[in-house]
Amino acid sequence: MPSALILGASRGIGLGLTRELIGRGWQVTATHRSEARDLAATGARLAVVDIADDESLAALATDLADDRFDHVLINAGIIGSRADTATNVNRDAMTALFWTNAIAPIRAARRLLPLVKDGGSIGFMTSILGSVGGRSSSWAELYSASKAALNSLTRGFAVQDVGQRPVAVLNLHPGWVKTDMGGPDADIDVATSVAGLANVIETTRPPGQRYLDYTGATIPW
Ligand SMILES: NC(=O)c1ccc[n+]([C@@H]2O[C@H](COP(=O)([O-])OP(=O)(O)OC[C@H]3O[C@@H](n4cnc5c(N)ncnc54)[C@H](OP(=O)(O)O)[C@@H]3O)[C@@H](O)[C@H]2O)c1
Repeated sequence: MPSALILGASRGIGLGLTRELIGRGWQVTATHRSEARDLAATGARLAVVDIADDESLAALATDLADDRFDHVLINAGIIGSRADTATNVNRDAMTALFWTNAIAPIRAARRLLPLVKDGGSIGFMTSILGSVGGRSSSWAELYSASKAALNSLTRGFAVQDVGQRPVAVLNLHPGWVKTDMGGPDADIDVATSVAGLANVIETTRPPGQRYLDYTGATIPW
């Protein structure tokens, strides 16, 4: 039975993907930092972590030290205030956004990489908005920049941390999804996004790093 660890699964895409993988016969360990009634109902093994908190990440890595996973996904992320731009954002809000979306995922990945089985993969839930080459507007500029920073950090992670290990690195775009973050006008529902993401996770094998959307299409860096 394949196994996955998903960080940030209390709601939205993380919750949906937990359900989807369990439905496909995976054994899933899923983390939350707040209320987790819906997550508990999926049958996942639960763990607690706030990815922005180093002590919390260290405790998770210690608790799971004897576990090995076919896939580890760092899904947690925030959008910040939609009204914030580089012109008006304050330092605290900027720090929270970049810490949660770029710095914390890399710190988490460095702690959790030893738990990924050879032949498996480690995933980062980034966004097509983090594509620098594909960018043609200033829409959501700070959130987009935080995901571009995440993409940049993962490039170094793939080369230096993963190195020659047979572990694939997946930078995933879930589509524009109807969640608390994506809003009701988004393109696709959670079920469509997570079915596609699960296909990508199940079929992408090492070696190498890919930047893929939920349909498996490659996104330019
Ligand atoms: N929805 C979209 O259209 C879309 C598009 C592109 C990329 N994404 C990315 O996909 C991921 C999931 O998005 P979503 O739409 O499902 O968002 P969401 O509905 O807002 O859910 C975000 C999840 O991240 C968790 N989280 C946030 N900060 C955390 C922290 N410090 N520690 C632990 N967990 C934390 C939340 O936990 P709590 O419940 O405790 O807050 C929640 O489970 C994010 O990385 C997002 O940037 C989403």
